[in-house]
Amino acid sequence: MQVGLEAIGVAVPDTYVELADLAMARGVAPGKYVDGLGVTRMGVPLVDEDTVTLAARAARMALESARCSPDDIGLLVVGTETAVDHSKPVASYVQGLLGLSTRCRIFETKHACYGGTAALQLALDWVRSGSAKGRKALIVCSDIARYGVGTPGEPTQGAGAVAMLVSDHPALVVLEAGKTGVYSKDVMDFWRPLYSKDALVDGHYSVQCYLDALEGAYRSYQEAAGDAGGEGAYSDRFAALVYHVPYGKMSRKAHRHLRTLDGDAAPDASFDRLVGHSLVMPSQVGNIYTGSMYLALASLLSSAPEDLTGKRVGLFSYGSGSCAEFFSGVVQDGAQARVKALGLEARLARRRALSIPEYEDVMRAREHLDERPAADAAGSGFRYQGTRDHKRIYAT
Ligand code: CAA
Repeated sequence: MQVGLEAIGVAVPDTYVELADLAMARGVAPGKYVDGLGVTRMGVPLVDEDTVTLAARAARMALESARCSPDDIGLLVVGTETAVDHSKPVASYVQGLLGLSTRCRIFETKHACYGGTAALQLALDWVRSGSAKGRKALIVCSDIARYGVGTPGEPTQGAGAVAMLVSDHPALVVLEAGKTGVYSKDVMDFWRPLYSKDALVDGHYSVQCYLDALEGAYRSYQEAAGDAGGEGAYSDRFAALVYHVPYGKMSRKAHRHLRTLDGDAAPDASFDRLVGHSLVMPSQVGNIYTGSMYLALASLLSSAPEDLTGKRVGLFSYGSGSCAEFFSGVVQDGAQARVKALGLEARLARRRALSIPEYEDVMRAREHLDERPAADAAGSGFRYQGTRDHKRIYAT
């Protein structure tokens, strides 16, 4: 049985900030954010958008793209590190908004940016084991990345969700059973205490932790795949490499490290060929934590000019704290056309730019979103309206 991604959906906020504008407002050379970090724009959600609404919008796109009935979903897991409640999972709100069956197992996973990958691996095994009994899994990665205004992390914010339909009809990418390598280690590189809406990070240390985890997971993958020691650089067996993208430059550092591990004396030379297309959309959206690597995969399938049919793609997911996984998939016939048909790049182009004062107002307003009284006017289209009797209210 072949198992993998049948469809994908992506949601990003309708508004964004130009990183060049942010740099000028912070007295920093724009080149530092745009070239030094490799980010052009970052998505900033307005006050009617949260982790739930982004997740629901992405999930709806995935279901519609596969013409999948809500009743066909037997497992819904939302991976997030920016949940909206200490107890009730984001997944339950999504179940309600999408009208999924009551005969569906539903929960939320957390391990920083790795939480979505943990959910995806679980879903793959659920389908492979036969427990799915013909039903499909819906895995959603949804987050709003938030660091303090004026901190070094500020230009690496972003927001968005990626939903994946996982089944034994993997029309997009077959994920290879057994070909996966894991690395985990208790480190304090990035975290968010229960009392804080902003993430805390030991920035340069977090880069080193990411690279250490990449090395460990890649070596572990090579052992699991069982075909190490062949001709040429090991990573030339992949037509593309998709790394977790907290910011574009991190993917460049990751690729340089991986190719150096391969013994490549010119480790940057293959970057544009193997990695470039995966960064087109992340550079316009910023860090979306759990969904970042999957947005990069969507970007690759949407923008790579060459035919990737039958080609292998390497995927590296990193969650601070930490847990990382290197795994691989094979692109299926017609996958690129299906992802292009979602019109993701056109959607990004239709967003509205926020001025820096508007962005700072939104950041302040978002601090109190969890207690905001629900607006009387009914909106539509999966929008957060506020709370009533301590309950979150959503417009459908
Ligand atoms: N023109 C071009 N480039 C410039 C420049 C200019 N005018 N000025 C500086 N640069 C370059 C620097 O040379 C540097 O490049 P290299 O990394 O290649 O040396 C780059 O811009 C960044 O400069 P700094 O290192 O001085 O930047 P900083 O100290 O202000 O912060 C950061 C960088 C540590 C990444 C910070 O943004 C941060 O803490 N971000 C959040 C943490 C993060 O994303 N970590 C990633 C790994 S952890 C992870 O992946 C999990 C997750 O999702 C959070």
